[in-house]
Amino acid sequence: MKPLTDSFGRVHDYIRISVTDRCNLRCVYCMPAEGMEFQPHDEIMTYEEITAVLRVLAPMGVSKVRLTGGEPLVRKDLEQLVAMISAIDGIEDISLTTNGMFLPAKAEALQKAGLTRINISLDSLQQERFASITRGGDVQRVLDGIEAAYRAGLDPIKLNVVLMKGFNQDEIKDFIAMTLDRPLHVRFIEYMPIGQSSEEWRRTYLPLSHVTEVCEEAGWSVAPHEGPGGNGPSRNLKVKGAQGTFGLIHPVSEHFCDSCNRLRLTADGNIKACLYWSDELNVRRVAHDPALIEALFRKALGEKPQNHEMALALEKKAQSHTPTGRRMSQIGG
Ligand code: GTP
Ligand code: 5AD
Ligand code: SF4
Repeated sequence: MKPLTDSFGRVHDYIRISVTDRCNLRCVYCMPAEGMEFQPHDEIMTYEEITAVLRVLAPMGVSKVRLTGGEPLVRKDLEQLVAMISAIDGIEDISLTTNGMFLPAKAEALQKAGLTRINISLDSLQQERFASITRGGDVQRVLDGIEAAYRAGLDPIKLNVVLMKGFNQDEIKDFIAMTLDRPLHVRFIEYMPIGQSSEEWRRTYLPLSHVTEVCEEAGWSVAPHEGPGGNGPSRNLKVKGAQGTFGLIHPVSEHFCDSCNRLRLTADGNIKACLYWSDELNVRRVAHDPALIEALFRKALGEKPQNHEMALALEKKAQSHTPTGRRMSQIGG
């Protein structure tokens, strides 16, 4: 079957599926302080609808699936969905992006159901700060979650650190130190302007060039490394002699749109061809009809922009809010 190609020739073999917009935390970069109005349950894609969509996409070459949220593990029995997806011919990689707090209870069941690997968000190793960034999270539970994932055999384990001026830039060294004697893979992510006030984003954004400076100051010998494998945009590095690696994800200072292989599906079934694009097509309405599902994805890709204008949009236009219809918790990163 014809692969899923956009009008710029990019082949799409990876889909990020948000299974819920709900979350047990409210990270400062992701949700407003007052929380959000959640989508009603009856508008959320059922596990059957999600697998029906994937059964159409897999023969077109989509072989990699990432489940995201909100927090995907607040969705009941997520391991059932993982098992349903892993039974689809052609799906080779099922991964999860999570805040890690439910992993002590869920890691083993997820691994048994067919989850291959896991990315865990962790923006500070210091409890007080962690609680303030996540508005109430418990860092020890996430650290326990990492251990549980490790024990369950989920491999690789990646840690996502969104770098934020005034919040965690002084912890870069501590995070890289975690990779020295354990096979952990830390990725520093540039703070993206998605739905928050432009003012707040400008105040907090820090380019990743800062990470290299920290390595130089620490006297670490660092070299590019192929990293643990993945489908995303991370550029990986390794401290000489370390067991793990660290990576840089820099959507703002140096976008990676030329190599984009990703589609997104929101929890309420909207296809997003680009993270930073408001145009959406709803697949839930047609989830019973494979031909219509295929047509809708091809239409979405036909309209996919060549690249996002994340920083540009903020610099050039005097906008009070960063230009996207949804907050990150409603897209899933
Ligand atoms: P793997 O490499 O397969 O492990 O996945 P990943 O790194 O793409 O997944 P993860 O959910 O851990 O995402 C890490 C960060 O990369 C998040 O902040 C995402 O929002 C960001 N990201 C992933 N894909 C894109 C993209 O296409 N565009 C932009 N701007 N950011 C992306
Ligand atoms: N900028 C960069 N990364 C973000 N994430 C959530 N919001 C943002 C943002 N505004 C990260 C989360 C999670 C991943 C899916 O996206 O920390 O690890
Ligand atoms: Fe929840 Fe993840 Fe958003 Fe934090 S980043 S509020 S953990 S969905």
